[in-house]
Amino acid sequence: MKKIALTGIKPTGILHIGNYFGAIKPALELVREYDARYFIADYHALNTVKDPGLLAAQIRQVAAGWIAAGLDPERVIFYRQSSIPETFELATILMAFTAKGLMNRAHAYKAAVQENAAKGDDPDAGINMGLFTYPVLMAADILLFDSDVVPVGKDQVQHVEMAQDIAQAVNFTYKETLLRVPEASVREQVAVVPGLDGRKMSKSYGNTIPLFAPEKELRKLIMRIVTNSQGVEEPKDPESSQIYLLYKLFAAPEEQRSLADRYRAGGMGWGEAKEALFQAANRELSPLRQRFEGILSDPAGLDAILARGAEKARPIAAQTVARLRKAAGISSG
Ligand code: TRP
Repeated sequence: MKKIALTGIKPTGILHIGNYFGAIKPALELVREYDARYFIADYHALNTVKDPGLLAAQIRQVAAGWIAAGLDPERVIFYRQSSIPETFELATILMAFTAKGLMNRAHAYKAAVQENAAKGDDPDAGINMGLFTYPVLMAADILLFDSDVVPVGKDQVQHVEMAQDIAQAVNFTYKETLLRVPEASVREQVAVVPGLDGRKMSKSYGNTIPLFAPEKELRKLIMRIVTNSQGVEEPKDPESSQIYLLYKLFAAPEEQRSLADRYRAGGMGWGEAKEALFQAANRELSPLRQRFEGILSDPAGLDAILARGAEKARPIAAQTVARLRKAAGISSG
C-alpha cells in the first residue's frame, strides 16, 4: 500500500509563479509515489478573508489553478475542507487534548501578539480564536486522513509538529494508536523564485508574476524586472541576474547554457534577456492559462470535481471520527 501525502492549500490571493515552482510542482511530483489528498483550506482562509465574494472567487481560482497546473482529480482526492464536516468534529475532540500553552507558542499567533506590543496595543487586538486555534484545525485536517507525510513550506513545519504532539497526546491517553503521527516533508531543494525586484517572489512584497497572467501582461511584467545599469556590450554574470534565475526555471539545460554563454560574452542587453525569458515562460504557461480559463468558465464542472473529491474523502474521515468517539466513550448512536 502506498503511503499517504496530504496538504492544505489556503485560498488567499491569486497564484503566482513562486507558488507554482515552490509548492504546486513539488506537490504534484509526490502524486507518483504517494496516495495524495490535497484540499482547499477554505475555513482557514475565513480567519482573514471576510469579504464573501472575494473568498468565493479565491476558492474557485485556486482550485481551478491547481487542476490547470496538472492536478488530476482522478488520482488525487481533491476537495474543499468545508465539505468534510468530520474535520470540525475532530477539531473539537482534539481541543480537549491541546494545551493552551502549545497554542501560545505558535509562530503566527506570537507574531501577531508581538506586532500589537510594538504598536502599544492590547496584546489581543485583532486576534480572533480562528487564528489562535489555527494549529488545531490544521491538525484535524492532517490526522483525519491517516497522513504519513505533509508537504509544506518551512513556515508550516511548526504546525505539523503540533499535529504530532496532539496525536501523541490522544494515543497516550487511550493507550492505542488511534491517530497516525505525520511527518512534515519540507521542500529544501526547491529553488527560491526571485520576484520582479530581485527579492524572493512573495505576495507580501508585491513583486509577483501571476501564474495565469494573460500573455500581454506577462510580457509587461517581465519587461519591468529591475536590472542594473550595465550596458549592452558589457559581459554579465548570469547567476546574479534574476532574469536568468527565472529563465532557468522554464528552460531546458541546453537553453540555459546557451543563454549563460550570451551573458558572459557581452553584446547582449537586458531587453534581449527579458525577451528570452518571456518566450520560455510563455511556452510553458500558455497551455496552463488556457486550461485555467476553460475550468473557470464551467463553474458547475468545477463544483462537480470538488464534490466527487469530498465523496471519496468523507468515508475515510467518518472512520477516524468513529474510532475516536468510541475510544472516548462518546457513542455514535
Ligand atoms: N496552514 C497552511 C498554509 O497556510 C494550509 C493548511 C491548512 C495545511 N491545513 C493544512 C497545510 C493541513 C498542510 C496540512 O499554507
